[in-house]
Amino acid sequence: MPTIIYIEACGRQVVVEIAEGQSVMHGALDNNIEGIEAECGGSRACGTCHCYVEDGEDKLAPPSDHEAAMLVNVAAERRDNSRLACQIKPETDLTVRLPERQV
Ligand code: FES
Repeated sequence: MPTIIYIEACGRQVVVEIAEGQSVMHGALDNNIEGIEAECGGSRACGTCHCYVEDGEDKLAPPSDHEAAMLVNVAAERRDNSRLACQIKPETDLTVRLPERQV
């Protein structure tokens, strides 16, 4: 099971094991991580699950065209390591930082 280190905007770190095939977004919601809204429930339609992949990005498939298009509209600063947490289903450990705001 992949271990995800979530770094909330306040700096608090929460370490969570998620099931294989589970998204980083669902892992956050299931464990009361602050900073993920996920208004659309994971269908790439809201951009409120924005996160920054701090470690492990090289082990992920790059964003799809649809994900990349949604990242244009995120509320917080878009960076090179910006991703939609609902689209990340890691097979290995990952560290993600959550932005200060999603809307
Ligand atoms: Fe809406 Fe990820 S939950 S785009």
